Amino acid sequence: MIAATRTPEMIREDFPIFAHPTSRGKRLVYLDSAATSQKPQAVIDALVTYYSEYNANIHRGVYEIAARATDAFEAARVKVARFINADQREVIWTRNATEAINLVGYSWGLQNVSRADAILTTQIEHHSNLVPWQLLAEKTGATLRFIPVDGRGVLQLDNLDRLLDGVKLVAISHVSNTLGTISPLERIVPAARAAGATILVDGAQGIPHMPVDVRALDVDFYAFSGHKMLGPTGIGVLYGKHELLEAMPPFLAGGDMIRKVEYEHTTFNDLPWKFEAGTSNIADAIALGVAVDYLSALGMEWVRAHERESLAYALGRLAPLESRGLRIYGPKDPAIASGVLSFNLADVHAHDLASILDTEGVCIRAGHHCTMPLMEKMGWPATARASFYIYNTQADIDTLALGIEKAARIFNV
Ligand SMILES: Cc1ncc(COP(=O)(O)O)c(C=O)c1O
Repeated sequence: MIAATRTPEMIREDFPIFAHPTSRGKRLVYLDSAATSQKPQAVIDALVTYYSEYNANIHRGVYEIAARATDAFEAARVKVARFINADQREVIWTRNATEAINLVGYSWGLQNVSRADAILTTQIEHHSNLVPWQLLAEKTGATLRFIPVDGRGVLQLDNLDRLLDGVKLVAISHVSNTLGTISPLERIVPAARAAGATILVDGAQGIPHMPVDVRALDVDFYAFSGHKMLGPTGIGVLYGKHELLEAMPPFLAGGDMIRKVEYEHTTFNDLPWKFEAGTSNIADAIALGVAVDYLSALGMEWVRAHERESLAYALGRLAPLESRGLRIYGPKDPAIASGVLSFNLADVHAHDLASILDTEGVCIRAGHHCTMPLMEKMGWPATARASFYIYNTQADIDTLALGIEKAARIFNV
């Protein structure tokens, strides 16, 4: 166990939302951080301070508050770059992970992928790391291939070398949002490198939950969203290796991404601004920098350790309910899974289960979790999903278990 200076109970106090009981007077038990995390007061304050003290556009004004806004915006980029061990020119602001992945699809993909190529992804991807590659394959004539997943939700790498033959791009999630499976990047990345492929990792569920060092991972692109890691919605990041970004054409065109514009011709700005057309999401980028400060102060090793413990505790706490028809999906092994627990209770629909849990103040997600092909392959119409983060306590998991017991009583299972 990594020693933290703060407990989840203390961390909870930094999040103003937890000061408010639900409309039924229950303690808020938020177990849907895989969808979006809650925000600490410091992040909310950063937004308010920007808008109330130095709201101005960046990279343009010469007056004091414009310079302050530009400095804060670029300082946030430096914080993110340090957090992932990248150069600041390699950190592109986007709206979210989805936009970051699409940026690669349109800019790098259309330039580099052709009919003779294959794109390798997996059977567990979120739609955001699948549909862009379907579009790229349609546009270029390239073939899509999939690393299969077994019944436990673990990627099957037996035929990896064969799957990698002729592959131009490997696009893989760091962590599955439906099953919590952590992809074995330490095996996949070297094999992909040996095959000469470019590697994109969808880090939407990775970076909020564990230390990420893009150089150590040796990936070419790493995409993520701010709102799943304590930051606001509307801000995300594409990390890309400098030489790749340098060679890529702009994705969107307009203000800020230019160096010189003539009526017939334009030269583009340097990295990272070449990929940041138009007025950026200034306040949210600054606030994401504050979220990164918050996570760094906690320590990402501690965050990962806390989630391992939460998952282990939840698996133990829910195990007795298996005799009542509770089925838990995914690897069920905290060593290879993050804090995500997908389950169903007998033949109770996941939405009904989620509604009953809601009456106890417990927020979980129910449905296909934007992984429809995975659900279809597994034969699950829907699952309930509880996901844990830094502010979740064992008491939260106890309330989840009691809520599931209540549902079992109501549905007589
Ligand atoms: C694994 C994974 N990839 C991508 C995304 C897309 O994130 P966003 O909607 O913030 O772009 C999500 C969101 O749930 C996700 O879980």
